[in-house]
Amino acid sequence: VGGGVEKRGALIVLEGLDRSGKSSQCRALASFLRGRGQAVEEWRFPDRTTAIGQMISSYLSETSELDDAAIHLLFSANRWEKKNLMESTLRAGTSLVVDRYSYSGVAFSAAKGLDFQWCKTPEKGLPAADLVLYLDIQPEVAARRGEYGVERYEKVEFQTRVASHYQAMRDSTWQIVDADQTVDEVQQVLREAAQNVIDTCKSGRELLRLWP
Ligand code: TMP
Ligand code: MG
Repeated sequence: VGGGVEKRGALIVLEGLDRSGKSSQCRALASFLRGRGQAVEEWRFPDRTTAIGQMISSYLSETSELDDAAIHLLFSANRWEKKNLMESTLRAGTSLVVDRYSYSGVAFSAAKGLDFQWCKTPEKGLPAADLVLYLDIQPEVAARRGEYGVERYEKVEFQTRVASHYQAMRDSTWQIVDADQTVDEVQQVLREAAQNVIDTCKSGRELLRLWP
């Protein structure tokens, strides 16, 4: 426990291809942690409740078209508009379980052909995740799951490119979780990893920024 190193909540991010099970797992993980008496909030990006989020939502449902760079920057702005609240919440000791973050931003835009480094630039300065739980699933397996193909990007060929860009962002904060297991099996792995990082941050860990 380093003197001066802040005691705070943990920023835990779930990432993965569309239909990898992130949303259900996030919900289950947050409610498990709360049941254990932890201060935890469940967040998601895009946050479709803001004005920017509504533009993103209509783009995703294919009711509007936007230039690839413009939508990329909107996804990023949607994180920046939540940055202060994210930081103050963490500093108040509450952990965040977040469904998608900057890694989605980069992986999906780079999969369209935008330059990988250019895609990372607008994310620079946002809080870095303490733990990225990557729900690893083959695009063909995800495609067999319910409601696949409803939104833009839910196509196997595109998701295969997304997966390769996710790969390029792996670092020591990432834990790869086999998502082709039962919901309970996946949840078990997430719970253990999340509890560990929450304990670490609680005893003091510097809040880093993207990209470390
Ligand atoms: P969702 O299904 O988790 O709500 O995400 C909607 C889609 O938006 C999903 O296909 C991933 C994509 N996405 C981006 O392209 N860039 C981003 O920054 C984020 C957060 C999501
Ligand atoms: Mg989706």
